[in-house]
Formats: sequence, structure tokens, C-alpha cells
Amino acid sequence: MAPTGPATRASALSAETPDSEYEDLLGLWSDLESALSVLLARPGSALDFAAKMRQCDAWLQDLVAHDTDAALYLMFQLAATSSVGYSASHALVCGTLCHILAHDLQLPAPERDSLVRAAMTMNIGMTALQDELANQRGRPTAEQQRSIDEHPRRSRALLEQQGIRDPLWLDVVGHHHAPPPEGDTRPLATLPAARRLTRILGTIDRYAAMISPRQSRAGRSATDSVRAIVGHEDERRDEVTYALVRSVGLCPPGTFVRLDNGETALVLRRSEKINSPLVASVLDRHGGHRRQPALHQTATGKPRIQSALARSAVQVELDHRMLVRLGLYAARQYRGMAGLAGAAGTPR
Ligand SMILES: [Fe+2]
Repeated sequence: MAPTGPATRASALSAETPDSEYEDLLGLWSDLESALSVLLARPGSALDFAAKMRQCDAWLQDLVAHDTDAALYLMFQLAATSSVGYSASHALVCGTLCHILAHDLQLPAPERDSLVRAAMTMNIGMTALQDELANQRGRPTAEQQRSIDEHPRRSRALLEQQGIRDPLWLDVVGHHHAPPPEGDTRPLATLPAARRLTRILGTIDRYAAMISPRQSRAGRSATDSVRAIVGHEDERRDEVTYALVRSVGLCPPGTFVRLDNGETALVLRRSEKINSPLVASVLDRHGGHRRQPALHQTATGKPRIQSALARSAVQVELDHRMLVRLGLYAARQYRGMAGLAGAAGTPR
């Protein structure tokens, strides 16, 4: 973890100018990833594991509260190219999405806390193996499969050893791969808390795994990942999937899209109109790199989004600082114009 604590650094954000804010957001995200990666790889070496986990969670909440679009952008862009290993990166993606969904689903605060912390630690019983599997082309060996099968139980036991006493957090981790009971089609709100959170985490875990590239396969696009969950999963999961689409969109910030003018663009920010985000063209129709990305507000006109693209389908060097700043600048401009015209459709 960086020498400065998350609370200090995050609170410093609000006092700074927009430019330094966004440079800091990038640093904060990497610091959070590194801190979580150390905790998950060597939980026994933390002096107070529970306190460190709460600290990581507080840091995550500050990042998302500061700017949800920038946090999503960083998550989808950097998770795919992260150097901390697949396991920590997946844990942070799942924790962030669960945090955003908890708000959309209006979960009570204690449930939100248990859900996000379970998302960040569910695979702590197989951190090294999960990293190994992400870099492995072949199927798991018999021994690896045994460890995979045992990991929810091992994760729970390890968390208990580290002083975690929240029964909901522990239950969700221990059951995070358990299939829902036959015939249980009750809506989320009527389920017992542990079952509700397990269902939410199960869907997020699958979505995050589908979107991420591994050695054995390229990741899917965000839209294909949602479709794979909606189309082929138990319909009981749809309530969570719809909440995911409502809150992050079919093309979330940080993912690539093909535009109907043939250009390849990066999604920068969501807009009030679902699935019509602000995008920046980074490749022209011939695949040439655009030095000056062109901004398009797809909610209000041409070009429109034709399809979502997988991360691995686009090879381009990006200046994340510039793009995040550009997105914020465009959103502010647009908000100003929409305010003057009295129009709806202001980007969030
Ligand atoms: Fe797992």
C-alpha cells in the first residue's frame, strides 16, 4: 500500500483541481489494486486483516463516489492490463460492480458491506491457483480441480482464521458457487439475506470472468457477457442482470465499441439515456490511430454504436489521463449546453 492512507489520499481529491484529481484517481486505483493483491496473496502477514479489508473497501467507495464513470473506466481498462495478477484484479472488479449494484438494488448498508467484502475475498483460498489458471492454456489437472472445488470452504476458513466475524460475509463466501435450490423463483427482495447476496455475487462473478481475457481465450465484449448471462442462465438471475445493465450499461465506460461510421471508439461516460454513452473515436474506419480522439455524444445523434468489442479485439496505446480528463470536460460542456437549452439527457 502507498505510504499515505486511502482516507487521506481520497479526501485530498476533493480539494484539488480537476486535472490533478484525475491523475490521482489513476494512482489511487493502482494503489488499491496493489494493497488488495498483497492482502489476498499473504493474508497471514497483515497485522490486522479485518481492518485492512475495511480500509480497502473505504478506498473503493471513495473512488466510486468521486466519479463513478471514471472508476468504471479505470476498472474496465486497467483490469485487463493489470500487473497485479488475475485474482486480485478480478476481486476488485467484482467488489466495484457489487458496490454499484448494491446502490441500484437499494441494499441496506450492512448487506452492502458484507456483499462487497465477500466479493473481494471469495477466492482468497485459491489466489495463487487462480493466477496460475488464468495463465494456463489447458484444462485444470485433477489436483487443481480438487482445489477449485474446495476453494469456497477454504476461503471461508481462512477468513475466520484472520478474525472475520461477520456471519453474512462468511456465509456468502462459503456458498458463492453453490447452486440455488430447485424451484426457488422468489424475487431478490423476498430472499433471506445470505441467499440474496449469493445470487447477486454469482452473477457478477460470471460477468466479470467472461469479460476478462485469459491465456486460454480472449475475453468477450461487455454486451456478449450480459447476453450470455441473460440468455442461458436461470431466469432467476435476470433481476441482477437487469440491475447491472441499468447501472453500468451494455457498453460501460472503459470498453470499446464499433461505430456505424466504421470507427472504433472507447466509451468514456454513461449518459441519462441508457446504452447511449459519450464515446471517443480512437481508430479511424481503416484502423489508423487517431492522435486527436473525436468525441461523440451517441445519445443525441450520429454516429451510433453498432456493436461492443472485446478488449483483445483492439490493439491501441491509450493515454488514460487524457481520455478521463476529456470525458469529464465533455460531460461538463454538455451539461452546460443541456442546461441552457433546458434539454434532458445530461451525462452523469
Ligand atoms: Fe470462486
